[in-house]
Amino acid sequence: MRIAVVGTGYVGLVSGTCLAETGVTVTCVDVDAAKIEKLNHGQVPIYEPGLAELIEKNTRGGRLFFTTSLQEGLSDADAVFIAVGTPPDEDGSADLHYVLGVAREIGEMVEKYIVVVTKSTVPVGTNKRVKATIQAALDKRGLELEFDVASNPEFLKEGDAVNDFMHPDRVIIGVESDRAKKVMERLYHAFILNNTPIYFMDIPSAEMTKYAANSMLATRISFMNDMANLCELVGANIDAVKQGIGSDSRIGNKFLNAGCGYGGSCFPKDVKALIRTGRDYHYDMQVLQAVEEVNDRQKTILFEKISKHYHGDLRGKHFGLWGLSFKPATDDMREAPSLILIEQLLAAGATVTAYDPVAMDECRRRIGDSISYASEMYDALKDADAMIVVTEWQEFKVPKFTYIERALKEKVIFDGRNIYSPEQMREFGYVYYGIGR
Ligand SMILES: NC(=O)c1ccc[n+]([C@@H]2O[C@H](COP(=O)([O-])OP(=O)(O)OC[C@H]3O[C@@H](n4cnc5c(N)ncnc54)[C@H](O)[C@@H]3O)[C@@H](O)[C@H]2O)c1
Repeated sequence: MRIAVVGTGYVGLVSGTCLAETGVTVTCVDVDAAKIEKLNHGQVPIYEPGLAELIEKNTRGGRLFFTTSLQEGLSDADAVFIAVGTPPDEDGSADLHYVLGVAREIGEMVEKYIVVVTKSTVPVGTNKRVKATIQAALDKRGLELEFDVASNPEFLKEGDAVNDFMHPDRVIIGVESDRAKKVMERLYHAFILNNTPIYFMDIPSAEMTKYAANSMLATRISFMNDMANLCELVGANIDAVKQGIGSDSRIGNKFLNAGCGYGGSCFPKDVKALIRTGRDYHYDMQVLQAVEEVNDRQKTILFEKISKHYHGDLRGKHFGLWGLSFKPATDDMREAPSLILIEQLLAAGATVTAYDPVAMDECRRRIGDSISYASEMYDALKDADAMIVVTEWQEFKVPKFTYIERALKEKVIFDGRNIYSPEQMREFGYVYYGIGR
């Protein structure tokens, strides 16, 4: 079995590599020549645990190839995956021009039956547009050629993407023909052997499932953040509440952490896009509108706490900041809460030195040297008025508090991810701020 994967970002690269790991021959295609060049020289353009080893193994095994030529990718392929970005458009809807651009190119080049699988997160109705776009390109060529479209949304999470792809809770596949279903069954054969639940459904339901999943997860986060803020006001502790409700099997204990807001390339844009879809059908997605509002407010919560501590005057203050990526184990900084906090601190006249295990290059690419970067976590705290935790990287969880104490000018910690115990911090003599405790 041979496939092409178009778009070699977090999703395309991980999906392509993992499918190669199951024996499929995969050609990954990207317009970014520098990225392809790197991959062809054994360098991995993103940070994702375990990915480099799998790429190396499968490239060596002759099952994984990288090219900028879609034509090359399509030759002899049974299926082609579209895994390009779908960033938010100005009105919040998903910008489909990359997806439809690839569809057009496929229509211009394809020579035999193929299943065109959309892996990008796309609103209901997009596969129909993909199909129409390919058909229009075929018509232009005067070519009568059969093809199918399929929807196969991806649920991997950055930071654990390889594991998620190889051991998914489920695989969702939307198809509209038996022929396409058979191709997808062959492609996912290794997963079927492993008893992974594979749910075949109609295409609109598959498209919607992805948005529903991300929106549900974002809703849990905003719900807990709202609860946390109320806990602070009434004198309750969100940790205890989390334990109390998480032990209810109907609720479950995942995705209940209060913090300084969700970011990333998916939740913010997918929530926005689903609200927009609602609007297109004259339906108000009221819950999701609130989810978004709560999250926007939550991303400023650390700044509010910091500002209040210093009585509204941050001029000349210096902060040591741990964690820049939107979550641990990734270098992705799209919509990261750290960016909003940094912007607010700088605007208020403060300075920042940051440390992140992998996202500092990405941060520098985005905001340059408007802040300083430390090559070691404790160095970021040197002579700082306070320490701020924005991302809960593992190595921040049990730090050497003696080093922190030695580095800081004052023993003040703002913990945006509730990774330290308020009791212990009090014992150690810190002024400590968490979220909802
Ligand atoms: N990142 C995640 O955790 C995640 C998880 C699930 C689903 N998704 C969805 O998957 C899709 C891709 O997300 P991502 O994070 O991998 O994006 P990304 O921005 O990391 O990668 C997209 C890649 O597509 C390439 N590209 C753009 N136009 C192209 C073209 N015409 N031909 C070939 N390549 C082209 C870009 O150069 C880039 O390398 C999005 O719809 C996203 O919502 C992302």
